[in-house]
Amino acid sequence: MDTAPVNPPPRLLMGPGPITADPRVLRAMSAQLVGQYDPAMTGYMVEVMGLYREVFATANEQTFLVDGTSRAGIEAALVSLLEPGDRVLVPVFGRFGHLLAEIGERCGAEVHTIETDWGTVFAPEQVEAAILEVRPKVLAVVQGDTSTTMCQPLADLGEICRRHDVLLYCDATASLGGNPFETDAWGIDVATAGLQKCLGGPSGSSPITISPRAVDLIDGRRHVETGIAEDRDVARGVRIASNYLDLAMIMDYWGPRRLNHHTEATTMLYGARECARLLVEEGMAAAVERHRLHGAAMLAGVRGLGLEVFGDVEHKMSNVVAVHIPDGVDGDAARAAMLEDFGIEIGTSFGPLHGKVWRIGTMGYNARKDAVLVTLAVLEQVLRSGGVTVTAGAGVGAAQEVYA
Ligand SMILES: Cc1ncc(COP(=O)(O)O)c(C=O)c1O
Repeated sequence: MDTAPVNPPPRLLMGPGPITADPRVLRAMSAQLVGQYDPAMTGYMVEVMGLYREVFATANEQTFLVDGTSRAGIEAALVSLLEPGDRVLVPVFGRFGHLLAEIGERCGAEVHTIETDWGTVFAPEQVEAAILEVRPKVLAVVQGDTSTTMCQPLADLGEICRRHDVLLYCDATASLGGNPFETDAWGIDVATAGLQKCLGGPSGSSPITISPRAVDLIDGRRHVETGIAEDRDVARGVRIASNYLDLAMIMDYWGPRRLNHHTEATTMLYGARECARLLVEEGMAAAVERHRLHGAAMLAGVRGLGLEVFGDVEHKMSNVVAVHIPDGVDGDAARAAMLEDFGIEIGTSFGPLHGKVWRIGTMGYNARKDAVLVTLAVLEQVLRSGGVTVTAGAGVGAAQEVYA
């Protein structure tokens, strides 16, 4: 087969993720490999744990990377927490809530869901009432559901879970780094994320943090693989159904025992480390504020273009906005024109919103003024080509007012 070296077209990725990676992350990922137990490598692993404690705002010792995309982190958390027959409650407010429920089912858990309309979030009382009814072992909730752009308030849920002796798992893939997230202050037991949104990297690594009480539970299911340690016979509890995503073994690998498990994805670790360094250097509060500012500018800009914003804007994530595709405009053709003529990608949508909304992100490396303004300028052109009457410069002008 005749092929050329990889040379992707220049793109500005302004969808709901993945987004254009920060060049610093790409540079870190081009560094040479070292051996898995090289002191340089284990040193990086220790640094990664410390950096992600800052990103997750936690003192949890067990804070590390699960190899694989964000979904690997979710599966690792749920398969390690849930035994067959355990009850899990999932408040569903978009596609990724359904994903948590689906993964819970695959773990053999008894899955209970509560649902609210796409574009809304739950009040804490609704979740507490469901907890009282279901009496779950785990409450599994998404913070920012990218499918609807909504951000579920979490501050009260940890306290509710503690009161009813429920473990709280949170998928913060789309929101971490761009919206407040306080693992310890909010009482979150396990949180997982990915790099391809507000962290400014490529997908392929899933940062995770695990509270001491969740560690105790997972450690109670510890079954060390045959042939790697003397103590394999001290197996206890119901064995975790996945080998690759067994957090008890992964903790032994990242911890001082350094018990062999998988071969760490070194290049992804370099990238994940740089993502966290970028955020920690900037300061988590400053990064959240940067996403708030550019998200506000994009919101004002799309409204300036006359587009109607989807969902409860009060509860929108800072880093992504969904807008109704105007009547008469072919949403996919407009997106294709943005990509082909201007090199800018915005997102389509899933399920009930498919063909109805576009999703536009301002996150990670692309939470920047120039990225916001150029996207709005191009959107104006595409809307006009689609037959929509737009005042010249209305989107860019409205965004500029936010910056002013
Ligand atoms: C909230 C949320 N959870 C999970 C995922 C799945 O992530 P990945 O595709 O990295 O496995 C995504 C991806 O968009 C997401 O937005």
